[in-house]
Amino acid sequence: MFKKVLSYLYPINLFKTTSELSKTLEVTLVNGELVLDSKNTNYSYGSLQRVLRKGLKFIGFETIKPMQHILVLGVAGGSVIKTLVDEIGYRGKITGIELDEKIIEVANTYFNLNQIENLNIIHHEAFEFVLKTKLSYDLIIVDIFQDTLMPSFLFETFFQNRLTEILNPKGFILFNTMLLKEIDTVRNQNYLHFYDPSKFKVATLPRVEEHNELIVVQKLN
Ligand SMILES: C[S@@+](CC[C@H](N)C(=O)[O-])C[C@H]1O[C@@H](n2cnc3c(N)ncnc32)[C@H](O)[C@@H]1O
Repeated sequence: MFKKVLSYLYPINLFKTTSELSKTLEVTLVNGELVLDSKNTNYSYGSLQRVLRKGLKFIGFETIKPMQHILVLGVAGGSVIKTLVDEIGYRGKITGIELDEKIIEVANTYFNLNQIENLNIIHHEAFEFVLKTKLSYDLIIVDIFQDTLMPSFLFETFFQNRLTEILNPKGFILFNTMLLKEIDTVRNQNYLHFYDPSKFKVATLPRVEEHNELIVVQKLN
């Protein structure tokens, strides 16, 4: 309680470890709220949660609530999962894919993800999971970062194509990207060209929280 009050005056670091993927992982109490950061960016809660909440609002909380199965690629501290469960009241299945085992431990210890009944976290590489899954999903949230880096597979046609195969008709993809350089803007524009407008509706929510651009794709039928 005392730490929570103090955290309104200055951030209080509660846990820090190294990570091969994210360089460092830090859990900090800021203004009474826990956030998870990698070395150079916010991973969960804080601005990241606001970014993804905006994307979910764009899709529509009422559209999401009755969905049956949501896939989250990149779990970290699970802030988007908390938005789905606590704010939207979503009760369908959630499958979360996370590559970093240390992050799963942190998510369970500090953010109680293991207490969410409709969530199944799988320790797996996201690209491989997407290739081999036999299920299909109503919403796929792609939120994969290695510190500030977005792995190149995310922008490959092969991966895009596979995501559309495992997406149910009328389903959505919510893709969080970071724009740090001019080349990233070109990368995102090229990404959008993949989607045939007769089959997909595509929207971008540019410059959410300064560096993020959200891409929302809906499969029409
Ligand atoms: C920004 S965080 C995800 C935040 C989370 N969606 C939330 O709402 O709090 C990015 C996550 O992607 C994970 N990641 C990076 N590369 C991955 C990969 N190839 N497969 C699965 N997870 C990966 C990182 O370990 C990190 O936990």
